[in-house]
Amino acid sequence: MTPASRFELPHRPRRLRRNPALREMVAETELRLRHLVQGHFVLPGAGREEAIASMPGISRYSADLLVEKVGEDLARGVRAVMLFGVPEAKDAGATGAVDPRGEVPLAVQALKQAFGDRLIVMVDVCLCPYTDHGHCGFVEGEVVVNDASVAHLAEMAKVLAAAGADFVCPSDMMDGRVGVIRAELDEAGYQDTAILAYSAKYASAFYGPFRDAAGSAPGFGDRKSYQMDPRNHREALRELHLDLEEGADMVMVKPALAYLDIIADVAAESDVPVVAYNVSGEFSMVKVAAREGLADEQRMTLEVLGAIRRAGADLIITYHASQAAAEGWID
Ligand code: PBG
Repeated sequence: MTPASRFELPHRPRRLRRNPALREMVAETELRLRHLVQGHFVLPGAGREEAIASMPGISRYSADLLVEKVGEDLARGVRAVMLFGVPEAKDAGATGAVDPRGEVPLAVQALKQAFGDRLIVMVDVCLCPYTDHGHCGFVEGEVVVNDASVAHLAEMAKVLAAAGADFVCPSDMMDGRVGVIRAELDEAGYQDTAILAYSAKYASAFYGPFRDAAGSAPGFGDRKSYQMDPRNHREALRELHLDLEEGADMVMVKPALAYLDIIADVAAESDVPVVAYNVSGEFSMVKVAAREGLADEQRMTLEVLGAIRRAGADLIITYHASQAAAEGWID
């Protein structure tokens, strides 16, 4: 066999992979802490931290301890958080969702008081942690009703805006909620409160650990009458365009890992920043695999987050940000 010569093998992609300096020079994707938003679960009361069994390394915090935790992360460069409430009281009317003294509005106030504009505070807007049946809207019989749920979500968004949230983030998947929330925020004088819409949110098994963390699993049925069917692609673009028309400031695809095609196509069509949600099941898969010694945790994490960026996400909501900053994996 003749050895390959430069005449018969001019194309040698390996030339650009020869050493770290070359690889750095030609890397196409950047992953920095500024791209990440750390998710947090908020408990009522004070002095409370509870480890979440289904999400290794993640805890629920009461507002005071959350301020401490977020302060450490902020000092290391994690500049944005997404908050989820873990209320004790639940009822059919989701009254906890609109309580200005609820755990989340109080946590938003505490974070804003401590860190002001140095920290971006995003808040999940959904009824599922606050309803006694665990659905994301009100139910009549076994039907999750749309318009009455939207009205309550808009009230919730106003309470969070009043507390100082930078972004309200409807994750309920009711029709028309972005437009109604925008109108109600504006009418109440919160023109500068932005909306991050969970635009293409799929009915996914990857939310399992979150529902344990937030105590928000549906008591009957499933979420398939409002969250999207994982088999659908075109429908994600329809949801994207509706949310853009209704005034979304940023849009989201969720989950991320099994939906990189959706992220890429939403990124190609969106004229606002695209956020991907690296959800609880994706997080816990990596953590459990690492704990079992199946693969290297740092490399898996950076590969996952890097792939989501490569697909086209501007920002990533993730539970890995705090550790990635603390251990110096990225800066
Ligand atoms: C609330 C909500 C959920 C998640 C974010 N907001 C759960 C769900 O829809 O059941 C999941 C996030 C995660 O898995 O990390 N509706």
